[in-house]
Amino acid sequence: MDNRPIGFLDSGVGGLTVVKELMRQLPHEEIVYIGDSARAPYGPRPADQIREYTWELVNFLLTKNVKMIVFACNTATAVAWEEVKAALDIPVIGVILPGSSAAIKATRHKKIGVIATPMTVTSDIYRKKVESLDPSVRVTSLACPRFVPLVESNETGSSLAKKVVYETLTPLKGRVDTLVLGCTHYPLLRPIIQNVMGPDVKLIDSGAETVRDISVLLNYFEINRSRELNHKQDVFYTTAGVASFQTIAENWLHQSISVEHVSLKEALSDE
Ligand code: DGL
Repeated sequence: MDNRPIGFLDSGVGGLTVVKELMRQLPHEEIVYIGDSARAPYGPRPADQIREYTWELVNFLLTKNVKMIVFACNTATAVAWEEVKAALDIPVIGVILPGSSAAIKATRHKKIGVIATPMTVTSDIYRKKVESLDPSVRVTSLACPRFVPLVESNETGSSLAKKVVYETLTPLKGRVDTLVLGCTHYPLLRPIIQNVMGPDVKLIDSGAETVRDISVLLNYFEINRSRELNHKQDVFYTTAGVASFQTIAENWLHQSISVEHVSLKEALSDE
């Protein structure tokens, strides 16, 4: 038993797609979330910068005494997960392996598409993971740099979002039977993505798949939170404005939450 919270990190609001699934599958676990919306998107940034920012998020979560860290961000997973996992003595979970395995299970004709940020696509990590699990599968990757700004600015229901998703995904239409949403922000655009790709294409939510792994690790290390503790206090930190984060988060999670602004510089210099 370990009653400390689970830490989640993302460049912004995308990791909430993982949190939503955690709240559904493991509702008694307590959450500390940090979204770096002030510096989102991470995807078009150089790897060294993403690594530096990710370490800041990790160090911030460590000040909150978390028992496990979930990289609720594909881009940070692609760049820094291996390194952080090797350096810490608590479990560190990434989103890419669970998404890859789920896509292999779902594909009928061994044609998997991956949509992700420019860095995740450049790293080629999904293709490598999928092909290492099943070399007969064909992976087609596509960077969607215009998606994250739409989500961060709460424009997922707009006609601009429809236009951008349509224009971006048209080259993939008819070429894949399974599509990995390889960025945790993308499930917020899911209805539009499904509409453009057509009802026969199976969408894989990499973040939601990750919660199964979280559950397995909590059991394996025997660090579940006691079910006898009724009260829990989830806290969501954002490096940008509280109001915007709160609006997007509460719409997505269908519940009111506690959001605080944090300056990482100040929080980490206090240490
Ligand atoms: N949500 C993140 C991901 O899963 C990062 C998006 C970004 O900041 O570019 O890749």
